[in-house]
Amino acid sequence: MESLRMWLHSPKNILLLVGPPGTGKTYACSAMVDWLQPRLDNYRYYTEKEMMGQIYQAINTPGHDYTAQVDIMLDYSLLMFNDMGSMGFRKDDKKFRQEIWFAIVDALYEKQIPAVITTNLYEHELADVFDKRFVSRLFDHDNIVIDLSSEKDWRRS
Ligand SMILES: Nc1ncnc2c1ncn2[C@@H]1O[C@H](COP(=O)(O)OP(=O)(O)O)[C@@H](O)[C@H]1O
Ligand SMILES: [Mg+2]
Repeated sequence: MESLRMWLHSPKNILLLVGPPGTGKTYACSAMVDWLQPRLDNYRYYTEKEMMGQIYQAINTPGHDYTAQVDIMLDYSLLMFNDMGSMGFRKDDKKFRQEIWFAIVDALYEKQIPAVITTNLYEHELADVFDKRFVSRLFDHDNIVIDLSSEKDWRRS
């Protein structure tokens, strides 16, 4: 957890937390929110559900497209996205959700906004779902990747 602490002291690029259910991804997010609260007023936490919900709402509003919504959603100095991939990738919306995640990670990179992303998908599982370019950007050596799988399953203990 030392690298997580270091990242929080000077957040940049992406902090990626990977681990199966119960390994403390959401717990880590709320601990980070508690830590950031007094230090940073301009951060935002999203679950994948919430993030996608806003995107779907935007594309269902006439005259709106999701790129403008992505810009609005990223208008913070630090972002947290909990549970990437948790909604699954059904055949009919797989491409769209891939596209949204790509747009978000791309915009974070372009705008140089630090972000925390959590997922229970490992690199090879992400590679099955997402584009190679997306996975390589996520695992870029400038990012910090923390594998929580060695943590015990807190829910079962
Ligand atoms: N470091 C920790 N110390 C104490 N309890 C923890 C810790 N990490 C997780 N937990 C508890 O374990 C359970 C599962 O954690 P959670 O963050 O929901 O896992 P995940 O989001 O990875 O599925 C929760 O009840 C949480 O409060
Ligand atoms: Mg969780």
